[in-house]
Amino acid sequence: MSFLLQSLMAGNKISSFIFISSVLLHTQSAKNTDSTAVMPQTVTALKGSCVQIPCTFSIPDFEGKCNNAISIYGVWLKNKSQFAHTDSFIAFNGSANIISGFSDIQITGNLKERNCTTVFYNIMMNHSDNYYFRLEMEPDVFKATFNPNIGDSKTVNIAVRDSPQLPELKPSEPKYVMEETTLSLSCSAEAPCPKEPPTISWSNIPKSAHITTQLQEKPDKTQFVISNMTLKASYMDHRRNISCTATYPRNTPVETSVMLLVSYSPKETHIIITPSSGTNVTLTCKSKASPSNDLKYIWYKRGQDTPIACVKTINLSKTHNQTGSYFCVAQNTFGNQSSKEVQLTEEGQKELSYLVIYGCAGGLLTFALLSAVFFYCMRRKASRQAHVTDSEQAEDKNIDMKAVYDNNAIVISNNCEKKETDDLHYGEIDFSKLPMDNKTREYSNNGPDTEYAELQVTERKRKINRV
Ligand SMILES: *[C@@H]1O[C@H](CO)[C@@H](O)[C@H](O)[C@H]1NC(C)=O
Ligand SMILES: *[C@@H]1O[C@H](CO)[C@@H](O)[C@H](O)[C@H]1NC(C)=O
Ligand SMILES: *[C@@H]1O[C@H](CO)[C@@H](O)[C@H](O)[C@H]1NC(C)=O
Ligand SMILES: *[C@@H]1O[C@H](CO)[C@@H](O)[C@H](O)[C@H]1NC(C)=O
Ligand SMILES: *[C@@H]1O[C@H](CO)[C@@H](O)[C@H](O)[C@H]1NC(C)=O
Ligand SMILES: *[C@@H]1O[C@H](CO)[C@@H](O)[C@H](O)[C@H]1NC(C)=O
Repeated sequence: MSFLLQSLMAGNKISSFIFISSVLLHTQSAKNTDSTAVMPQTVTALKGSCVQIPCTFSIPDFEGKCNNAISIYGVWLKNKSQFAHTDSFIAFNGSANIISGFSDIQITGNLKERNCTTVFYNIMMNHSDNYYFRLEMEPDVFKATFNPNIGDSKTVNIAVRDSPQLPELKPSEPKYVMEETTLSLSCSAEAPCPKEPPTISWSNIPKSAHITTQLQEKPDKTQFVISNMTLKASYMDHRRNISCTATYPRNTPVETSVMLLVSYSPKETHIIITPSSGTNVTLTCKSKASPSNDLKYIWYKRGQDTPIACVKTINLSKTHNQTGSYFCVAQNTFGNQSSKEVQLTEEGQKELSYLVIYGCAGGLLTFALLSAVFFYCMRRKASRQAHVTDSEQAEDKNIDMKAVYDNNAIVISNNCEKKETDDLHYGEIDFSKLPMDNKTREYSNNGPDTEYAELQVTERKRKINRV
C-alpha cells in the first residue's frame, strides 16, 4: 500500500531508472512512508466532456521545501511513471503550461496547500490510461513522481466511455413493501466533470412522491448527482415501473427502471351480476389484493350467519327461496374487505310491487291479521317492555353489523373457511356472541322458507317505525 517516491536529484543520473529490489523497496518505503499522493484509483470519464481528478499529496517537510523553492509546479505523466521511458508521455508540464495530446489540462488545486486536483478537458477515447502526478520544486529543491508500487498500480486510471453509464437505482431489484409504509428510492449518476453534472429526472412517479436532488462526493472525492425519492406505498402503486433518467450534456439520456411491489389487503371488492336479466344469474366477487394467490371469497346472504359459499362465483336462481341480499368478503393474508350488498328480487318484479301484490292478495284478511298482531304486540309491549327493548336493540345491532361490513373490518370464523383456508387466522368478531344471531335463528325457526323470513323483517321494520 505504501507509495514509493522516486526521488531524483537534478543532474544525478536522470536517465538511470533502477528496478528496485524488494529489499531496497522495503528500506525506501520505510524512509518515504510520508510521501504519498491520494487520488481515486479509477475515474470514468465521458467522451467530449471534462474529467476532474481529485488529488492531494504529502511529502516530508513540505513547508520547509516551499520556503526554499522559487517555483512549484505539477506534471502529469501518461502511461508510465518514468518520464524518460519511451512509452511515457508528458501530458502536462505546469512549468511552462505545456499540454500534449489534450486540448486543455488545468491543475485547479492549490499545490502550496498540497492540493493537486486537476481537470482534463475535452476527453477523447485515446485518453484512457494510467496517469501519474509529479511534483517539481525549483531550483533543485524537490523533483519526484508519486509512483505507486510497480505491478500493483494505485495511481489514477482514466476510463473513457463514449456513452454515459446508466444511473444506479436503489433498490435495484423489485422488493415487496407493505401498503402505507414509507419507501425510499435513490438514483445516482456519476459527475466526472463537476462543471457539467448530469440532470436526474424521474418518470411514472406516484402521487405521494417527494424528491430531493443534490451533488455529492464519494469517499474518493469524485462527485455524483443523487436524487432521493420517498413515497408512501399505495395499492395503486403495485407493479408501477418507476424510471430514473440521467441526462448529460451532448448525450442521449440514459434510464434505469425498477418495479414497485406493494402488498395490500383486498381493495375495490364488488359483485358483478351476469346476465343483467334472466332467471338464472351468476354472481362474481371481484377484488384486488396482493398477494392475490391466497385470495379467498366468502359469500353471505343477509339473515344467515354462516357463509353460503367460499368460491369466486355463485349461481343463483331468482326463484322465491333465493331472493334476498347478498354480499361477499374478499380475504388475503393482510386482511379482508366486504362488498356492498346486492339485492336479488324475483324476476320481473320490483321489491315494492312484490309487496303490493302480496298485500292485495292478502286483502283485508292480511290487514286484519296485521292489526291484530299489532294490537297484540302493543299490549305485549305494555306488559313486557323489556322484551321489546331487546328486540329493538337487536334491530340496531343488525344495522351495526352492516356498518361493520362496510368498514371492511371483519374477520369471520365459520365452518366454510375451516375447510378451505386452514392457514388463515380469524376471530375478531364472533357471530355467535351477537344478539343478531338469536334473532336470525328465531326467524329460521319459523321454517326453512327464507322468503317468509324476509317479509317478516320488512313488516317488523314498518311496525317499529309506526311505533
Ligand atoms: C517541465 O518543464 C521544465 C521547464 O520548462 C523542465 O525543466 C522540466 O524538466 C520539465 N519536466 C518534465 C518532467 O519534463
Ligand atoms: C488522441 O487522438 C487525437 C486525434 O485523434 C490526437 O490529436 C491526440 O494527440 C491523441 N492523444 C493522445 C494522448 O494520444
Ligand atoms: C482541492 O482543490 C479543489 C479545486 O479547487 C477543491 O474543489 C477541493 O476542495 C480542494 N481539496 C481540498 C482537500 O482542499
Ligand atoms: C413493468 O415492467 C415489467 C417488465 O419490465 C412489465 O412486465 C410490467 O408489465 C410493467 N408494469 C406496468 C404497470 O406496465
Ligand atoms: C335455471 O337453472 C335451472 C337449474 O338450476 C334450470 O332448471 C332452469 O331451466 C334454468 N332456467 C333458465 C331460464 O335458464
Ligand atoms: C329452494 O327451493 C327448491 C325447490 O323449489 C329446493 O329444491 C331447494 O332446496 C330450496 N333451496 C333452499 C336453499 O332452501
